[in-house]
Amino acid sequence: MLSFVVDAKDKNCSARAGTIKTTHGIIETPIFMPVGTVGSVKTLTPDELYEIGATIILGNTYHLHLRPGDDIVAHFGGLHRFMNWKRNILTDSGGFQVFSLADLNKITEDGVEFKSHIDGSKHFFSPEISMEIQKKLGSDIVMAFDECVPYPSEKSYVAKSLERTTRWAKRCKEYSLDYHQSLFGIVQGGVFKDLRKISADQLIDLDFPGYAIGGLSVGEEIPLMYEIAEYTAQLLPEEKPRYLMGVGTPEDILNGISFGIDMFDCVMPTRNARNALLFTSEGRLSIKRADLAKSDDPIDKNCDCYTCRNFSRGYLRHLYKAGEILAMRLNTIHNLHFYISLVKSARNAIINGNFEAFKNDMLLKLNQGGN
Ligand code: GUN
Ligand code: ZN
Repeated sequence: MLSFVVDAKDKNCSARAGTIKTTHGIIETPIFMPVGTVGSVKTLTPDELYEIGATIILGNTYHLHLRPGDDIVAHFGGLHRFMNWKRNILTDSGGFQVFSLADLNKITEDGVEFKSHIDGSKHFFSPEISMEIQKKLGSDIVMAFDECVPYPSEKSYVAKSLERTTRWAKRCKEYSLDYHQSLFGIVQGGVFKDLRKISADQLIDLDFPGYAIGGLSVGEEIPLMYEIAEYTAQLLPEEKPRYLMGVGTPEDILNGISFGIDMFDCVMPTRNARNALLFTSEGRLSIKRADLAKSDDPIDKNCDCYTCRNFSRGYLRHLYKAGEILAMRLNTIHNLHFYISLVKSARNAIINGNFEAFKNDMLLKLNQGGN
C-alpha cells in the first residue's frame, strides 16, 4: 500500500512538495510520469529512464489487454518483470482509451462495449474487468474505471455520467487488488463546477488513497481547463496525492503545481521528441531548422542530460533529417529530462519557499519562443 506525506507547502499558492512511498520505491512530488503505453516508454530502455530520474511510469490497461494480452504479461510475472522496470508503475484503467481510441462503444450500467483500434475485434470492459487486468499487470497505482466525457457535452449527460462513474468507482473499490496496489478515484464533471463538487464529494466518501482529476484537456480552452483544475484540486483532501490526468505543456504543469496538483502525465515530451520538437529553458526549439546545420551548441545550454552533454544541435538536426532512429532516442532523452528536471526544480523551489518567483521566471523563459 501507498503512503503520502506533504513535506512542504508554499505560502502564496496551493503548491506542495510531498513524498509517496510504495513497495517499488519513493516518488518525490510534484512528479512527471513518462507515458509507456504498451510496456515501453517509446525508444528508451529502463536504464535510460533511471538516468533521467524517472521514478514512476505509466502503462495502459486498454493497450496491454489488446496486445500482448494481460495473461501473457501475467505469465511473465507482471508488467514490472515483463519490461524489466524496477520502479513504480501507474496504469490507466481504459476508461479514457475506450472512448478516445476504440471504434464503437455502447455504454451501459455494467460497462463499455468497444471495438479494438488494432483489428476491430469486439471487447467489453467493466469496472471489475479493468481491475482484474490491472491486478494481472501488477501496477503500483491502479486507476478506477471511469467515463471521460467529450467536450463539449450537455450538462445533463455529464451529470448522469459522473453518477455512473461514482457507482463504477465503488465497484472498483470492492474488487480485491494485490496487497501492493493502491486504487485512485477519478473526479469527472466536465467543465461544470457544481458537478465537479458532486463528483469529488462522492469519491471522497469512498475514501481512496489518492484522487485524479479526469476529463480535462479534451478540447476545452486552456483558461477554462485551469479554472476547473484549480477548483477541483482544492476540493480534494490535503493528505492524499492529487493527479491531473493527461496534462500537459510545461506551462500547464507549472500552473497545475500552483493549484496543488502532485502528479502529471502526458505524451507531449515523448511524442514531440519523435517529431523534432524540443523543450528548452528558453522556449521550444524545432531541431529541423536549416540554420542549425552548423550549430555546435547543445539543445539547451542549461541542460545536463546525456544528449546535451554529448551532441550538438547540428548533429541532432542531421540525424533527424536523415531519418535516423538515434534522433528519436536522443530527443526523447532530452525532452523527458527537461520535464522531470522542471518538476524537480519546482519541488526544490517549494521547499526553499520561492516557488512563485521560480514559476514566474520559468513561464517568462518558456514563452520566449521563436527558437
Ligand atoms: N487520461 C486523461 N484523462 C483521463 C480521464 O478522464 N480518465 C482516465 N481514465 N484517463 C484519462
Ligand atoms: Zn538535454
